[in-house]
Amino acid sequence: MTAKIIKSPIPIESFDASYSDGGPVYSMPPECFTSEDFYQFELNAVWAHEWFCVGRANDIPKTGDYYTIEVGEDPLIVIRDRSGSVNVVSNVCQHRGMVIVEGRGNTRRLTCPLHAWVYNTSGELTSAPGLTDEKVEDFNIKDVCLPKIRTEIWQGFIFITFDENLPPLSDRLGNLGEQLSNYKMSELRASEPLKMEAFDWNWKIFNDECYHCSFLHGGSWGEMYPLPQSNVDEMTKFNDVERGLMSYNLISQHIDAAPTHTGSILQPPIEGLTDQEREQLSYVTVAPNLLIVAMPDKVKYFMWLPKGAKESWYGVSWMYPESTLALDTYEKNYQQEHDDLWQVMEEDLFAWKGSQKGMQSKYAPRGRLTSHELVIQRLQNWLIDKYRAEEQRADTE
Ligand code: FES
Ligand SMILES: [Fe+2]
Repeated sequence: MTAKIIKSPIPIESFDASYSDGGPVYSMPPECFTSEDFYQFELNAVWAHEWFCVGRANDIPKTGDYYTIEVGEDPLIVIRDRSGSVNVVSNVCQHRGMVIVEGRGNTRRLTCPLHAWVYNTSGELTSAPGLTDEKVEDFNIKDVCLPKIRTEIWQGFIFITFDENLPPLSDRLGNLGEQLSNYKMSELRASEPLKMEAFDWNWKIFNDECYHCSFLHGGSWGEMYPLPQSNVDEMTKFNDVERGLMSYNLISQHIDAAPTHTGSILQPPIEGLTDQEREQLSYVTVAPNLLIVAMPDKVKYFMWLPKGAKESWYGVSWMYPESTLALDTYEKNYQQEHDDLWQVMEEDLFAWKGSQKGMQSKYAPRGRLTSHELVIQRLQNWLIDKYRAEEQRADTE
């Protein structure tokens, strides 16, 4: 994270046209998606002052299980320690800055490859050749540990924040947890751990809306789950812009409808859902980087992280009850559904790539948003509130 507070390199007033307060709303300045300077500003404005998701606790079930992620310029390790807690620590060796581990795995200790300083699963230094074995008197091993990032688990999702003064995450997401309680998200699990991949576009390009669904996906999704705009309900109970929650429901035409070749779910429904929950797909964005999709048979999530002004990390995971994962038919149906949705994913990748390319043109627009993009309008308001707050911090520095 950039420590230095900077002002927005895009004049802060230029965001007014993208702020929804009753009048027409326009898309964000294209430089938001391309400028290196704005990216640095945004790392502070958004990522240094908010809770965000970094994965699932049940992707690292055993002591010593770990995986690595990068948030902007900060490599991090997510690891389960001997007490069973999930720790998120810096992946930067506190000797001379080498990145300690890559990928995922299981380990009793974290050993830096460069000079073999060793840290335990809580990030505490346990040995440093040339210091601890030679009993150097003015070196106290207890003074050194990997910087620990503030962490909370919500419904099985691991959230972190770099801001020590932010209110607890449970304050922000308490209502949403209750509203989605029938899905029992903390008990759901994916058959494979989340895999994040690098893409060549700004993280905000991933922000979800369904204005495009019946157009871009008309011949793919639309064939499996018919979707006139009237079936998109953007006024759901999950919306709470101040808490960074933007949502819409897709209202199904029959119970257990889903975008598959049969038009219905391919796995058993989650036990305990209401009829209404089985007749809708709920899309809930937990800004800045998590999209939860609650369906009759599973909960999917999409997660993204910033990598650069024009680069990001992105991953998708489908979570099911243990009873579904145990079925003999699970794998076959899972593969089938992936195949059914393959074209939809290709179309999204095509659109994300094309949008980033267009944003880099000197002809990139500030286009008028429609009334079918409330989810984007709400997200823009949330982002602009963050930008304005950061600008104020810079002004009072
Ligand atoms: S940089 Fe890690 S041990 Fe030296
Ligand atoms: Fe899409």
